[in-house]
Amino acid sequence: MKVLVTGGAGFIGSHFVEFFLREYSDSTVVNLDCLTYAAHPDTVDRLGQIGGNRYHFYKMDIGDPQVAQVLKAHHIEAIVNFAAETHVDRSILDPQAFVRTNVLGTQNLLQSARKAGNLRFVHVSTDEVYGSLEPQDPTFTEQTPLSPNSPYAASKAGADLLALASQRTYQQDIVITRCTNNYGPYQFPEKLLPLIIANALEDKPIPVYGDGKQVRDWIYVEDHCRGIDAVLRKGKSGEVYNISSSAEVPNLEIIKKTLALLKKPESLITFVGDRPAHDRRYGLNPEKIKNELGWKPKYNLEQGLQLTVDWYRQNRSWWEKVRDQEYFKYYQANYQPKGSKTGEVTS
Ligand SMILES: NC(=O)c1ccc[n+]([C@@H]2O[C@H](COP(=O)([O-])OP(=O)(O)OC[C@H]3O[C@@H](n4cnc5c(N)ncnc54)[C@H](O)[C@@H]3O)[C@@H](O)[C@H]2O)c1
Repeated sequence: MKVLVTGGAGFIGSHFVEFFLREYSDSTVVNLDCLTYAAHPDTVDRLGQIGGNRYHFYKMDIGDPQVAQVLKAHHIEAIVNFAAETHVDRSILDPQAFVRTNVLGTQNLLQSARKAGNLRFVHVSTDEVYGSLEPQDPTFTEQTPLSPNSPYAASKAGADLLALASQRTYQQDIVITRCTNNYGPYQFPEKLLPLIIANALEDKPIPVYGDGKQVRDWIYVEDHCRGIDAVLRKGKSGEVYNISSSAEVPNLEIIKKTLALLKKPESLITFVGDRPAHDRRYGLNPEKIKNELGWKPKYNLEQGLQLTVDWYRQNRSWWEKVRDQEYFKYYQANYQPKGSKTGEVTS
């Protein structure tokens, strides 16, 4: 299969590209990413080494009309859309960027897919579109009405609705996945787990919002990628599939578990003021993808956490590079991945 992956230089997208190239030796992946701050400078070259001539990279915005030409030039059969602004705190400071990429960018991709001949389109979304649960509530199903609370979640919900509307209006071949909190190697250290690990390894305070009792549902990133692959190959057009390992844990507890694995003291925990409109609990019901597509997670939380902690211990230079803001700004401004195409589409 020839697949266009958007946002493939980010955390989950890069795992998906690697998984896809390794799992399917006859596949071709075109990675389209505009390399925001969330794209690690080393990722594109690392994926290039794995994929060889089955891998192509375009430094391009998903909102760029030239996306249609990339689809045509590579005879793309399916799109998996990961590209997004993803950090909730940043969405509170600058919602505009989230609307631009997550809503308008997705709309441009939907339109480009249609022009290119109704390609299969997997839109990667999040449990945050459902809003927040109370402790006693049942978990979210695909039928739960959308009720997003942050600008990030609202922009993702907007994109989900545009994708579903395109399927119904133009009979486009579109499926949506909604997943819980991912963790694993190569996650940018502004997100909770890598932030805990990196700060703990540097003996720095670990900031905890509010009372730390917010519950999140955790999934190891490789399990998410396998779920997306199942939906790409077997998902029914127009359907939404929740992806979850059913591992609901309060933030404070996951921080304590991680500190214990790192053999670091709980005294590093520092409570800070809560985030506005902070959702109390997320929990997803994954029965549909399990029953209809045969997906199930391979990793439980203990296994996934151990793998993650080991990776961050062994790859300090990866996360130290992006924590050094001055270096990172310089690198980003000057960075041009090997063999990448910027702007013009040739083949
Ligand atoms: N991280 C999670 O826990 C989680 C959970 C559920 C769903 N998701 C969804 O999965 C997707 C990927 O999340 P992630 O955590 O890997 O994100 P990330 O922030 O690590 O990576 C996002 C990538 O998208 C690229 N990008 C941003 N704007 C772009 C644009 N306009 N054009 C082209 N590329 C652009 C960035 O350069 C980056 O490489 C997102 O759609 C997110 O909503 C994430």
